[in-house]
Amino acid sequence: METLQVDLKERSYPIKFGAGNLKYLGEAMAALQPIQQVKRVFVITNERVGSLYGDIVLESLKQAGFEPFYYQLPDGEEYKSLESADKLYTAAIENGLDRQSAVVALGGGVAGDLAGFVAATYLRGVFLIQVPTTLLAQVDSSVGGKVAVNHPLGKNMIGSFYQPQLVFIDVRVLNTLDLREVRAGLAEAIKYGVIRDGDLFSYLEEHLEQILALEQDALSYVIQKSCAIKAAIVAEDERENGVRILLNFGHTIGHALEALTSYRIYRHGEAVAVGMVAAAQIAVGRGLLKEEDKNRLEKLLKRAGLPTTVTIPAVEIINILPRDKKARRGKPHFVLPLALGEVDLFEDVEKDEILAAIS
Ligand SMILES: NC(=O)c1ccc[n+]([C@@H]2O[C@H](COP(=O)([O-])OP(=O)(O)OC[C@H]3O[C@@H](n4cnc5c(N)ncnc54)[C@H](O)[C@@H]3O)[C@@H](O)[C@H]2O)c1
Repeated sequence: METLQVDLKERSYPIKFGAGNLKYLGEAMAALQPIQQVKRVFVITNERVGSLYGDIVLESLKQAGFEPFYYQLPDGEEYKSLESADKLYTAAIENGLDRQSAVVALGGGVAGDLAGFVAATYLRGVFLIQVPTTLLAQVDSSVGGKVAVNHPLGKNMIGSFYQPQLVFIDVRVLNTLDLREVRAGLAEAIKYGVIRDGDLFSYLEEHLEQILALEQDALSYVIQKSCAIKAAIVAEDERENGVRILLNFGHTIGHALEALTSYRIYRHGEAVAVGMVAAAQIAVGRGLLKEEDKNRLEKLLKRAGLPTTVTIPAVEIINILPRDKKARRGKPHFVLPLALGEVDLFEDVEKDEILAAIS
């Protein structure tokens, strides 16, 4: 297994990468110094992931000397709620989860965010292990400590920054993932190429077919590179006061599309794909980005099977932008590309520019 360290002083933790390594999760946890006192482990997952990987995880934890118990929520974003958290707190209390216990988040971004939120708040915080099982969660959401549940009035409105003790990645679990989910996760990897690493972008162009076919070497390379970029950015700015905002490339318009369609039409990565093209178009309009680089981005997203245009009227998108969580004084922020591998934050993008780009 390869290891990468997220460097956050006393909150530092390893990300472990492998293929077919899920059965060694317990062993990897037992080897971690802070986890050595832990007996009770609360595994939180959903019905789908639980039916595929629950037994392997439970067996691995028992083999390593832990006493695991298990909760399966139904599958779906709507279960990333305070109501689900409440059920999980009850299960935690009933099963004797104490301060020296750990929560294992087994699943995609929904399980990771929800279980992370429970770990952050139960008894003011217990140990957290992220075991991401979607590509989106492996390249993005499991690293960096953002945990949250949704509120009926807004997504991810209730949450915290809470770093795990370990992120444990097995690329082989992606074999059972729907192709649409693979494509949506790929959007975030493409995002990492654009914001920080032109070589990663070129690699994605050259190896796209292998990645979509889940060939292990290409997939592992992309996951490790993406995690390394996220880890470096989070180490620089854990609580999003500075450079971490750059991870929002494609998200200003992306979040607007998700909100306008009530989170029912687009997977998160699909909305971000459209948002990245719109941001690139704004950058071209400002003379910041070469047209040919925007075309390369658009072409790669299309090849990955991701949407790059929408039929929603541009005014509707513009009207919802000031409601974005990250808008400052009612003005939307935009992360715009300057090249394939470099972006910057802009808070002076005018309505006309956005209109022109979306149209
Ligand atoms: N914390 C962060 O930094 C961060 C970043 C980006 C997104 N997010 C959050 O992540 C969530 C989206 O995550 P997601 O796209 O992983 O969705 P998800 O967790 O709903 O997973 C997508 C689907 O794949 C299924 N699945 C998961 N792993 C599988 C596997 N190995 N085999 C077969 N099926 C599997 C799930 O059951 C689900 O149906 C959103 O709630 C979003 O807000 C968080």
